[in-house]
Amino acid sequence: MAYLQTDVTKVTTHVLQRMKLQGEKIAMLTAYDYSMAKLLDNTKIDVILVGDSAANVMEGYDTTLPITLDEMIVYAASVKRAVKRSLVVVDMPFGTYQGNSKLALASAIRIMKETGADAIKLEGGEEVLESICRILTAGIPVMGHLGLTPQSINKFGTYAVRATQDDEAKQLIHNAHVLEEAGCFALVLEKIPAKLAAQVTNEIKIPTIGIGAGNGTDGQVLVLQDMLGITQQFKPRYLRTYGTFGEDISNAIRQYIGDVKSCNFPNEKEQY
Ligand code: KIV
Repeated sequence: MAYLQTDVTKVTTHVLQRMKLQGEKIAMLTAYDYSMAKLLDNTKIDVILVGDSAANVMEGYDTTLPITLDEMIVYAASVKRAVKRSLVVVDMPFGTYQGNSKLALASAIRIMKETGADAIKLEGGEEVLESICRILTAGIPVMGHLGLTPQSINKFGTYAVRATQDDEAKQLIHNAHVLEEAGCFALVLEKIPAKLAAQVTNEIKIPTIGIGAGNGTDGQVLVLQDMLGITQQFKPRYLRTYGTFGEDISNAIRQYIGDVKSCNFPNEKEQY
């Protein structure tokens, strides 16, 4: 299929809506730093997510819970400085929006002001509706996130597939409608059955972006380091890798070490 949005100079939430209507899939990847974001933007990727997966990928934590708003702002500002075309969405970290909609708005405003991002993303449905509504009233676009919501890992107790049972599936469908009606511009569906994700996608008018949610969503997202094969020992069924950059980087570094130790680097042309 031809890409319909290649002439777009800046991807906006409206462009994503148009992509859903025209049946063009949305491609989203994470980035947390200037160099990677520059590469991503140059490829014309539709959306760059400064995910709180930075807690795992950049900071080495087991969960996404420890990352702070200040840290997310540093990552997001670095990404935004590199990006001209892609829509930049920033995750609101754990503890910055749950249970207090005024805090949620203040956190979202900090992200928008201090990073120049285009939108924020937060996890959950009805339970965070007040926060979503308050953020939206300030004119800040909100991306929802349902299914496996990693900030709730201590409630779930596992990273297994969500909403495999009827009651949780019904709740998820209900929440998808709640987020759409509230005014979210898109919805991430993480690690849920493909059939359920396709049903949600057909029932709501805003784009859905899946991760481990099958091919029936309006778009896909992966964590950059996972799909590049940099992350070690993380091989969920849904992950397709597009390279062995972990190995390539290690090999390059081994070669460098060898060159230094053997006095092969620098050579005559590489000195003044
Ligand atoms: O933080 C993240 O990277 C995410 C994606 C996996 C959707 O939320």
